[in-house]
Amino acid sequence: MDLDALRELAQRSMGKRRTHAEREPGFVYYHGQRVAEIALQLRKLIFPADDTMDEVILVGGWFHDVGKGIEPHWEYGALLAREMLKAHCTADELERIVEIVGSHTLRKQREYPPYVKLVQDADLLDHYGSMDIWFEFRWCAVSGKKAEEALEFYGAEYDENIARLCSLLNFPQSVEVFKEKAAYARAFAERFWREARGELILG
Ligand SMILES: [Fe+2]
Ligand SMILES: [Fe+2]
Repeated sequence: MDLDALRELAQRSMGKRRTHAEREPGFVYYHGQRVAEIALQLRKLIFPADDTMDEVILVGGWFHDVGKGIEPHWEYGALLAREMLKAHCTADELERIVEIVGSHTLRKQREYPPYVKLVQDADLLDHYGSMDIWFEFRWCAVSGKKAEEALEFYGAEYDENIARLCSLLNFPQSVEVFKEKAAYARAFAERFWREARGELILG
């Protein structure tokens, strides 16, 4: 596949698109770029000897949310990706990429091939940790919330939420990364809440 041309296509179609009021224009493009990078790093960690699907994983990551804005976005996205990408890849590559787009939210609903599972995990991972704090602050900005009310995700039900999200991940390596992100974000939230109440923290 001509990856430069495909990245450009992703940029042209999603780079300025606004999907949510609280998210930056082009979020879906930048998120897709990050998901592809995360999925490739997971592949190297979990299947170090098998790089045969790397291009499929990369392009699947770039376009996985191309249908965002019209729900169910994974179904609409699969149709859209098929049309957009058919001139750019072989029939076999196209089927696999469309499978990634069409199944990325349907976690643990059936047995998926590794290239789908890697993108499913990468998609979840990109939404947590410091990136989640960025989303939460943007959300607070548009909804007029006070600092004390920010980062509510890290409140009383946090551990339950984290356990539920971990159960949706496909690989133990992803769970490990997720837990590290969750611990980092919680530590940040706890510090933030203390400072939001005016507490002086002495080193
Ligand atoms: Fe999605
Ligand atoms: Fe996504």
